[in-house]
Amino acid sequence: MDIFCIRGGTPLHGRIALHGAKNAALPLLAATLATGARCELLDCPDISDVTAACAILRHLGCAVEQHGGIVAVDAGSACRSDIPAELMRKMRAAVLFLGPLLARFGTAELSLPGGCVLGARPIDLHLRGLRRMGAEITLDGEHISARTDGLHGCTVALPLPSVGATENLILAALGCRGTLTLCNAAREPEIGDLIIFLRACGADIRGEGSLLRIRGGVPLTGARHTVLPDRMEAATYLAAAAATRGDVTLTNVRPEHLTAVLAVLERAGCTLTQQNGMLRLRCSRLRAAGPIRTAPYDGFPTDAQAPLMAAMAVAEGVTVFEENLFEDRFRHVPALRALGAHIHAARRYAVVTGVRELHGASMTATDLRGGAALVIAALAARGRSRIADTGHIDRGYACFVQMLTELGAQIEREM
Ligand code: EPZ
Repeated sequence: MDIFCIRGGTPLHGRIALHGAKNAALPLLAATLATGARCELLDCPDISDVTAACAILRHLGCAVEQHGGIVAVDAGSACRSDIPAELMRKMRAAVLFLGPLLARFGTAELSLPGGCVLGARPIDLHLRGLRRMGAEITLDGEHISARTDGLHGCTVALPLPSVGATENLILAALGCRGTLTLCNAAREPEIGDLIIFLRACGADIRGEGSLLRIRGGVPLTGARHTVLPDRMEAATYLAAAAATRGDVTLTNVRPEHLTAVLAVLERAGCTLTQQNGMLRLRCSRLRAAGPIRTAPYDGFPTDAQAPLMAAMAVAEGVTVFEENLFEDRFRHVPALRALGAHIHAARRYAVVTGVRELHGASMTATDLRGGAALVIAALAARGRSRIADTGHIDRGYACFVQMLTELGAQIEREM
C-alpha cells in the first residue's frame, strides 16, 4: 500500500474543480445493469470503487469502456447472475447489484459486501424489502442466494432511511409486476441523481423525497448522464482549507447539497461566498461551532464527521461530535491524537478540545473519510507526517494528491 508523505503548515490557496460523486456513480453503475441497454456516465470519478464496480459489470458479461471520466456500459450482453466474493469484498456498494440482478434475471448468487468498517453495517433492510417483493433469499454465512418467480409491487416502509436499501429496492422494483411504494426512503442527493438517470431511461418513478412509487415492467432504454458533483469531496477540501487557514475556491459544486456543513463552517468563523457557480472559503481564525450531530439528509452528513473533526482539532474551543449513523465511526481518533489532538471518544460521542498546533506523526488510515481526516490534520500540523494504507483514501478521492498539490500542499505519494 502507498504512503502519503506530508509537510504541514502551509495554508491552502487556489481553485479546484470537484469530481462526480462516488456515492452517486456506484448506484448509477448498478442501475445500468437493470436497463439492459447502452448507457454513458460522464464525470465518473477515477477511483478504485468505480474500477471495482466496472469489474463486476464485466464479470456479469457487460461491455464496459472507461476513458477520460466517461464510463460506457452496454448491459445488453449481461449473461450471468453470480458475483464472486473477491469482487464483493472490495466495497459496500457491491450489494447494490442484488436488486438489478433479481429484476433482470430473477436470480442472484453473491456474498456479503466489504467496504469501510464503521460498525456492523447489516443488510437486513435490503433483504427484508426484497423478500416482501417476492424474492426468496437465503443467507449461508457470507453467501447470499436469491431467486424469484417474479417480483411484485407492494408497500415497503423502511424503519430507517437507509441509503443503500433505498437504492437496491428502487432498482429491484424496475423489474416487478405492479408498483413498489417505498416509505421513509432516504433523501440523499445521490438518490435524486439515480432517479433522474432512471427517468431518462424511461422508468416510471413518482414522488419526491421520502415517499417514492416505482412502477415496474416499463421497457427501459439507455441514457447519457453526468454524475452529480461530490458533496463529500467538497466537505473534505473545505475542511482542509479551514484547518490550514487558507483561501480555497471550489467549482463544479452544488452548495445546496452541503447546507449543514456550510452552516458549521460559517459558525466556526469561515467566510463563505458563492458566485458564478463557485464556492469560496476563506479562514483566518477558526473557533468551535457548537455540537455537531450526524443525521440522515439533510442533517449533518456522517461522511463529513471525520474531515470536520480534523479541522475542529485546531479550532479555538470545544466541539462535541455525536455520531448517530454508525456505531464505530471514530476509528480516526487515535491517529489524530498521535498528531497532538485533544480528543476523548466514548460510544457515540467525541469531545474535541482545539489545540493551537499539531505536530507531525506517522499514522495509518483506517477507512475512507477517516483517512482523509488524517491528511487534513497533517496538512495543518507543523512538521512532517506519513500516512500508510492510503488505499482506503484512493477508494473515494480522485486525484487527491494532485488536487492538494494544486492548492499548495506539500504532499507526495510514496509507492
Ligand atoms: C451509504 O452507505 C454511503 N455509501 C455511506 O458513505 C454513507 O455513510 C451512508 O450511506 C450514510 O449516508 C454509499 O453510498 C456507497 P445506510 P450505506 O444504509 O448505504 C444501518 C462513504 O464514506 N443499516 O444509509 O451502507 C447501517 O448499519 C460511505 O462514502 C441497517 O441497520 O448506509 C447504518 O447504521 C461510508 N440495515 C445506517 O443504517 C440495513 O439493511 C445507515 O446505513 C442497512 C443499513
